[in-house]
Formats: sequence, C-alpha cells, structure tokens
Amino acid sequence: MAKSERLDKLIAHQCALPRSEAVRAIRRGRVAVDGKTCRLPDSKWDPETVALSLDGAAIGYKKFLYLMLNKPAGLLCVSRDPKAPTVMDLVPPEWSRRGLFPAGRLDKDTHGLVILTDDGDFAHRMLSPKKAVYKHYRAILDAPVDPAVCEAFAAGTAFEDGTPCLPAELTVLEAGETPLVDIAVCEGKYHQVKRMCGAHGLGVNWLKRISIGGLTLDESLEEGEMRELTEAEKAAIFG
Ligand code: URA
Repeated sequence: MAKSERLDKLIAHQCALPRSEAVRAIRRGRVAVDGKTCRLPDSKWDPETVALSLDGAAIGYKKFLYLMLNKPAGLLCVSRDPKAPTVMDLVPPEWSRRGLFPAGRLDKDTHGLVILTDDGDFAHRMLSPKKAVYKHYRAILDAPVDPAVCEAFAAGTAFEDGTPCLPAELTVLEAGETPLVDIAVCEGKYHQVKRMCGAHGLGVNWLKRISIGGLTLDESLEEGEMRELTEAEKAAIFG
C-alpha cells in the first residue's frame, strides 16, 4: 500500500506540475478527491485508495514509471551532465518531473535499448549480475572472429588488464572482414563489450543494444523516441 502524501505533492508528481502550480490549482477548487472538491494542499491522502481528478479529468496514479528509449549515438547515458547533452534531454515534459534515471549505461556512441525509470529496486534487479538478466548487443567488429574467441567468451573471458568476466555468448551472424555479431552479457562494467572484444584483438566499429532479458527493443521507435513499457514487457525483462 502506498503511504499517504500531501495533496499538492501528489498533484505535482502525477500531473508534472511545479508544486506552486499544484497548490494554486487546489486552492482554486480544480482538484477533487473521490469526487469532492478539496482545497487543502496539505491534506494527506493515500493515492492507491482514493480517486484524484483535476478539472474533472481522472488522474491515473502511477507509483513508478518505466520507459523504453531507443537511444541515438551522441548522447551521454546519465541523469545529468553540466556540459554535454544526455538521454534525459529527450524526456517529454509530462515525464520530466518524475525523477527518472537511465537504468544502466550505454556509451555515448552506442545505440539502442535503454530503460528510464524512477524505480531504484527495479533498476537494481535488472542490472545486478546475480540476477543473470542477459543483455543482447549487435556489434560490427573490425576483424574476423576465430571460433576460439566464442569459446573464450562462453568460458568467461577477461579484459586485457586481467579483470575477469562472467560467461557470455558471442555468435557470428554474418561472417566476413567486418562481421556482424550478437553478444550477450549479464554484467555491465564500463565498456564491457568493447573491452571483452579488445582482449581478443577485436575492435568494435558499431554497437547497439537490442534486448534486456526477454524485452526486445521496439523497432517502431525512431532513435530518440520513448514510450511506456506494458506490464507484459516489464515482466518479460525478468521472465
Ligand atoms: N558495452 C560497451 O562496451 N559499451 C556499451 O555501451 C555497452 C556495453
């Protein structure tokens, strides 16, 4: 059960309004609780057990938000950066006051699936190597892959500096001088894929994350677009 919270905080959070505007809306009688106008910004309510509305329109309560983003290259995958643009600059205004953060990082030049959420426990479960949620990447490498490299990935390879890696999968999808490969890993150390490949003399020319657990990137999302996950998609991550 959610705990009771001040009405102005609930309205601000759920309607993406600054707190001062939420207070004004409440004082002007625009907010109703269970169908009755409530003009008390400091009154406390449990959003899971009461129905809130603003100007007569129901406010659907969501404790947490889960968004799928198709990340373009060129943006940092962090909550904020004083100097450079980040994936958070792509979040539309209606979600921008939710305290969202990227659950896991992609490099600036990596494309593809990123989950933005305000649910820290969910992010932790998705990222913890102990939970073994495999992330699949498509990569174009700069040299042919020897089958011994696939075996080394499966056994658990190491970075050049000796840092050990958990078992991973390297599958060649299109062989050649610059092969297209699928790489699945369940941990997310800094430059995980690039350093695993680098340890075997392979450079990564292009990298895209295409799935997290059983959740696949919705390719109808243009790069830079995001949408909410369905309940089934959320469950698929751990399924
Ligand atoms: N591994 C990398 O090297 N880079 C990424 O962005 C993600 C995984």
